[in-house]
Amino acid sequence: MTDYDALITAAKQARENAHAPFSNFRVGAALRAKSGRIFTGCNVENATLGLTCCAERVATFKAVSEGERGFDAIAVVADTDALTPPCGACRQILWEFCGDIEIILVNPHGASESLRLQGLFPRAFDASFL
Ligand code: THU
Repeated sequence: MTDYDALITAAKQARENAHAPFSNFRVGAALRAKSGRIFTGCNVENATLGLTCCAERVATFKAVSEGERGFDAIAVVADTDALTPPCGACRQILWEFCGDIEIILVNPHGASESLRLQGLFPRAFDASFL
C-alpha cells in the first residue's frame, strides 16, 4: 500500500486535537498498521513541560496498547516550511515497534516529503544488542 492520502488526512485531523497551550506548536500523526488500521495521535503537553508527549509516540502507544503489531508508514503534520521530523525520543520508539518505516512529513500548505527511519536514525540501539 503506497497511497498515503488517507494517512495524511488522518494526521491532519488528529492535529486538530493537539493540546499545545505552552508551545502553540501543534502536531498530528497517523500510523498505519500492515493490517490497514490507522492509529492517530497529537502532541499532549503538560505544565511540567517535561511530561509532554509527542504526536508520534501517542499514535504508537495507542496502536501497541490495542494489540496491533507491524506498521508500514507514519504521517506527521506540523505547520512549518521546513517539514517537521520526529524528535530523537520518537525515533527510538518508532524503531522499536516499526523498524525502518516510511515517514511522510507534511505541512498544511501542501508540502510533503517521504523518508525512511533508517536514514533519520542510523545505527540505532535495539533489542539485538541485549
Ligand atoms: N512535537 C511533536 O509532537 N512531534 C514532533 O515531531 C516534534 C515536536 C511536539 C512536542 C511539543 O508539544 C511541541 O511539539 C514543541 O516541541
